[in-house]
Amino acid sequence: MKKVIYLDNAATSWPKPEIVYQVIDHFNRNIGANPGRGSSSKTLEAASVLLGTREALAKLFNISDVSRIVFTKNITESINIVLKGYLKPGDHIITSSMEHNAVARPLHVLEKAGVEVTYVTCAPDGSLYPPDLERSWKKNTRMVCLLAASNVTGTIQPLQEVGKICRERGGTFLVDSAQSAGNIPMNVLEQNIDFLAFTGHKGLFGPQGTGGFYIRPGLEIRTLIEGGTGSLSAETRQPESLPDKYESGTPNTPGIAGLGAGVEFIQKIGLTVIRKHEKELMGMLIDGLKDIRGVTIYGPADSRRQTSALSFNLAGFECGELGFLLDKNFGIITRSGMHCAPLAHKTIGTLDQGTCRVSLNYFTTREDIETFLKAVSKIGQQPVNNLPWENLEKV
Ligand code: ALA
Repeated sequence: MKKVIYLDNAATSWPKPEIVYQVIDHFNRNIGANPGRGSSSKTLEAASVLLGTREALAKLFNISDVSRIVFTKNITESINIVLKGYLKPGDHIITSSMEHNAVARPLHVLEKAGVEVTYVTCAPDGSLYPPDLERSWKKNTRMVCLLAASNVTGTIQPLQEVGKICRERGGTFLVDSAQSAGNIPMNVLEQNIDFLAFTGHKGLFGPQGTGGFYIRPGLEIRTLIEGGTGSLSAETRQPESLPDKYESGTPNTPGIAGLGAGVEFIQKIGLTVIRKHEKELMGMLIDGLKDIRGVTIYGPADSRRQTSALSFNLAGFECGELGFLLDKNFGIITRSGMHCAPLAHKTIGTLDQGTCRVSLNYFTTREDIETFLKAVSKIGQQPVNNLPWENLEKV
């Protein structure tokens, strides 16, 4: 296989820790059963896989009741279930101008159904100022939905402060942790999080097709999907017990086994160590990009205030062209364009052009960053209107 430098971990992390591949393979080859359906030893083993992953996630997010962790196929599904199951016409929700379409699109549908939505405008670096959010509070505000970190700029949002506002004012707090779980600490108790939506395939190192949400004890949402759960099977009504209420149909048990291994890997290495590594490389990336003529960095450009994603543009190049050249000539994988987040691009001023996004993880090395910086610098030195794409030298 051609050597690649993979800098698109905000889209999906790759490679996964070796144990993740092994655990999925083991499940598929040696267990392969449907959890909770029947009483065979295999079915019980499959059920214990789900429980093990719930326990690992509970430890990571400081959740005391593992039954309140529900598995879905991805975070988009989780966010849809929570928003559409909790809000009703006449309710008001506050969110931010940095949200991904996973939030903005369901809210667009809910708005048409009579839910009132306020988008608090964030600063051009993507950060939300909590007093702005507090000023938007209304009598009918029932929920605040906020991403913990932007998928475009990596900007880390003030969850603690926003969680406190929600608690004081009596609204629930839904957090989109797509770009933060496994990268920075997430703690449902300390951050007053009522609903925590997570995806398995990014910072948590699980495979694609895994995700879920946490729902705080005492909270109820309507179900979006009903069906077989392996429990209360003599009745046609949906069980009220969790997680079954929200988990109908055969789950992705091999994937969830892999997710559990990914989360255990994080615990073994330590989130502090992972964060330190990603922060150091992000600092190196920011400093290096600042030294290249024609580069514009978006977002905080401060490794303390962002996770492991960074957006930039290079004068004279369209972001798609830049991504293409990085891949074709240097084997470097990035993501260019809108990143499914038009609101965020409007906020940072790149709606008309998009950005090239670089995103790291624990497996990214200093050499990867050095090679990437040399490649950007080299591309920047090419005559703009006469690009010898085929002949760019390898760095
Ligand atoms: N939301 C993912 C990204 O930002 C897919 O690339």
